[in-house]
Amino acid sequence: MNQDLMKQHVAQAALSYINDDNMILGVGTGSTVNALIALLPQVRDRIKACVSSSEASTAQLLDLGFEVIELNDAGTLSLYIDGADECDPHNRLIKGGGGALTREKIIAEASRQYVCIVDESKMVPMLGAFPLPVETIPMARSMVARKLVALGGQPIYREGFVTDNGNLILDVHNLKITDPVALEQKINQIPGVVTNGLFALRGANTTLIAQADGTIKKQ
Ligand code: A5P
Repeated sequence: MNQDLMKQHVAQAALSYINDDNMILGVGTGSTVNALIALLPQVRDRIKACVSSSEASTAQLLDLGFEVIELNDAGTLSLYIDGADECDPHNRLIKGGGGALTREKIIAEASRQYVCIVDESKMVPMLGAFPLPVETIPMARSMVARKLVALGGQPIYREGFVTDNGNLILDVHNLKITDPVALEQKINQIPGVVTNGLFALRGANTTLIAQADGTIKKQ
């Protein structure tokens, strides 16, 4: 099974978590979530509205006729479904490859359950092979980059990319992430950092992993 098929497969598996009536569903961002959104019409009668983590997901949801509401009008969400760039054996994640990490982290925090959907290529014993995205306020770029170097990383400015919040992304290569919770907190303390892509303080509750042999593993 190729990677695209695995994404569709794991997206289909996630539909079983949309199992209440009148749900307000938190929707993530990325190609795996795109596959999920395309399948949401199958459970349309259970979804009252969606809260979306990006302009891209919002546009796709609206196209399919779903109502998209503000998180501020939604209260605590029962379910958030989103992908990840890396996932470790403890459901701690790196996210933000698509640049939507801040809204994703806000919605994850506002949700009782985060179901992460990935294919097996995202599973790692230790986080950090994927460069860690750090959303940064533009005027702080160089100073934040120097602090990230001091933490042992090599930050690369994602040129030409502006987040939905009007900020920039530094992708930090070669970090040794032996303690994801401590590093998430440390990077959050740098003035000018809006969010970093470590989802360790609040990881996923459940990860559904599509395997090349066609099965779905649950972690
Ligand atoms: C978006 O900012 C990311 O956090 C995505 O969740 C992540 O990049 C996974 O995307 P894919 O499903 O496209 O791999």
